[in-house]
Amino acid sequence: MSKVSFKHISQAPPDPIFGLMSDFAADTRGSKILLSVGVYVDEQGKVPILQSVKKAEKNLIAREETKSYLPIEGEKNFLNKIGSLIFGDFVWLKQRECIVAAQTPGGTGALRIGGEFLKKEVGDTIGVSDPTWVNHRGVFTACGLKLDIYPYYSLQTQKLEFERFIKHMESLTTGTIVLLHACCHNPTGSDFTFDQWKIISDLFLAKGLIPFFDFAYQGFREGLEEDAAAIRLFAEAGHHMLVAYSLSKNFGLYAERTGGLFILTESAEVASNVLSKVKSLIRTTYSNPPLHGSAIATEILSNPQLKQEWTQEVSLMRARIIKMRQLFCRALVAKSQKRDFRFLLEKSGMFCFTGLDKQEVSQLRDKFGIYMTHDGRMNLSGLNEKNLDTVVDAILKVCAV
Ligand SMILES: Cc1ncc(COP(=O)(O)O)c(C=O)c1O
Repeated sequence: MSKVSFKHISQAPPDPIFGLMSDFAADTRGSKILLSVGVYVDEQGKVPILQSVKKAEKNLIAREETKSYLPIEGEKNFLNKIGSLIFGDFVWLKQRECIVAAQTPGGTGALRIGGEFLKKEVGDTIGVSDPTWVNHRGVFTACGLKLDIYPYYSLQTQKLEFERFIKHMESLTTGTIVLLHACCHNPTGSDFTFDQWKIISDLFLAKGLIPFFDFAYQGFREGLEEDAAAIRLFAEAGHHMLVAYSLSKNFGLYAERTGGLFILTESAEVASNVLSKVKSLIRTTYSNPPLHGSAIATEILSNPQLKQEWTQEVSLMRARIIKMRQLFCRALVAKSQKRDFRFLLEKSGMFCFTGLDKQEVSQLRDKFGIYMTHDGRMNLSGLNEKNLDTVVDAILKVCAV
């Protein structure tokens, strides 16, 4: 008998974000500070469970009678509530029968199912911004899609490069899929203005490019309604497009793996065919989505009092992030003699793309126990009034020029 060997299998590289979390956990320094992970952290350094979520869970536990499977595409009420949150009641109700909706395990699940669907049925290339959230590359490559890296942000000027972006889009062939961050661009924190979105929408329609919105931070930039403006503009303009939605950040449901995939098509008949394909992808991938997170969100969004409480909690998270950005950036600008950090103030969302290079990021970790991602991205909510000066002073010490 000859046993098959697994000896040929080599070590995969650690995930750039979760790998750093393990390094942080193994770091024995009491002074260490974690700024690398994309989770909202409160002033006490905790990743909180929202009060609205706690109350919704209590209601659910008192009421629940079964944990039987959900339908393959998820729970109808959940999809209706999230559809309204993304598109607004008017567009959602008007276009509902042309929109395919499926509940997914987190935003990542939506990106993956969306990517698999596109590769099978629509096209083989997806544009992603330079830079982008590290997992975009991994997810879409795993779907078998080719990546087209489009210009987005200049590290020299620390500004969004709109003209280069437009020129690049003009050069793409019809049918190319383009991943767009709906708001709070990860990692740069630089978003298109509403006027720029209008130009992009017209260009995509004229060229036949397919927008795929990643919407993971609704409510973290300006507000729940304001942050959906680009998606609503595109939906009203009649794009056939996709949206991957995540409830991880704005509901704090990270570990409950809650999200949704929405595909806008031209008719109810097309939507029905597309849904059938999406369902068969889901059935062979994870069969059907998890229940708990979606039940919590549905409970919150169906109960006016809980919805108001949740909206208020999102506002508080946003306000704290904005406050920490201002305190951090102002301190850096005031104390820095070598580098101009003023550009950091103009950005938005949970991340601060500091402009530190790989070497400076390594020094921060090795010398000071401060962890950010290799590209110099840090989570602003990881700062608090106790650690702020330590982080600012350490950054200034590692800045060579
Ligand atoms: C830009 C972006 N898209 C998608 C996701 C995926 O979120 P989820 O945890 O819901 O899969 C994240 C999470 O960090 C993100 O930053």
